[in-house]
Amino acid sequence: MERKIRVAVVGASGRMGREVVKTVLTESDMELVAGVDRSSGPIDLGRMVGLEECGVTMSNDLELALTESRPDVLVDFTGPKTAFSHTSLAIRLGIRPVMGTTGFTPEDIAELDKQCQEKEIGGLIAPNFSIGAILMMKFAAQASKYFPHLEIIEYHGDQKLDAPSGTSVKTAELISEVREELRQGNPQEEEIIEGSRGGYYNGFRIHSVRLPGIFAQQEVIMAQQGQALKIRHDSYDRAAYMPGVAIAVRKVMTYSGMIYGFEHFID
Ligand SMILES: NC(=O)c1ccc[n+]([C@@H]2O[C@H](COP(=O)([O-])OP(=O)(O)OC[C@H]3O[C@@H](n4cnc5c(N)ncnc54)[C@H](O)[C@@H]3O)[C@@H](O)[C@H]2O)c1
Repeated sequence: MERKIRVAVVGASGRMGREVVKTVLTESDMELVAGVDRSSGPIDLGRMVGLEECGVTMSNDLELALTESRPDVLVDFTGPKTAFSHTSLAIRLGIRPVMGTTGFTPEDIAELDKQCQEKEIGGLIAPNFSIGAILMMKFAAQASKYFPHLEIIEYHGDQKLDAPSGTSVKTAELISEVREELRQGNPQEEEIIEGSRGGYYNGFRIHSVRLPGIFAQQEVIMAQQGQALKIRHDSYDRAAYMPGVAIAVRKVMTYSGMIYGFEHFID
């Protein structure tokens, strides 16, 4: 049997981190070798996620944990503030980073790509690991060539700080690469209540719904005379991201350099 992929998780006691720990512990080709979080005591990681004891104890010192456990891959779901330093640390130690956080500038990515190339290891920065969400974006972009009249509606929980969502902006960018130039609607249109028509992006609109109990949903509505096409994706909880994370952990073992965007792993 082939050697298992040794995986460390940082942000391990966070909402995403716990899902990743569970995934790594249940995937037969992966081995959890370290878990790090600054806000957790020395608890067994298996126990923490409601599984059997796994013998790996939570640490709060990332560099020490990585040096001692020598993982192949570091999965990071901490936050934008630590994104660059954690990625750089992992690469310096020859560990492939799989980063789920945002907060990288294009210059950061170019620098990290250089570092990965020098070490001859792979890395991934993926603002969205949901395979369904990525397919929704790709399908919407493909369809917009034939249905250039469209609007995007995205739905998230009421505590989300930014609007519109990163996913909707990314969708809008992909659509704009293929959709013909078109300013939709009536040029004389007037908003009686400010903002009623949503945010303007390259001739079409993005609407953000914020309500309690919603996790992440998006709909791209396209219409022309006599027909409409709706492409919709619904995520109900964080488990939605895990098949993508598992693919990333395997894939990052197979190339050199830093890849930005999980969509590059989906044909
Ligand atoms: N890429 C994706 O598909 C995707 C999906 C969901 C969330 N996210 C992103 O993942 C990140 C985490 O989300 P969450 O909901 O799990 O947040 P969370 O607050 O529940 O978890 C973050 C964890 O990281 C820990 N942490 C922060 N800084 C640390 C440090 N320097 N060292 C060690 N531990 C540290 C915190 O203590 C916390 O336990 C956010 O940036 C979020 O936007 C990405």
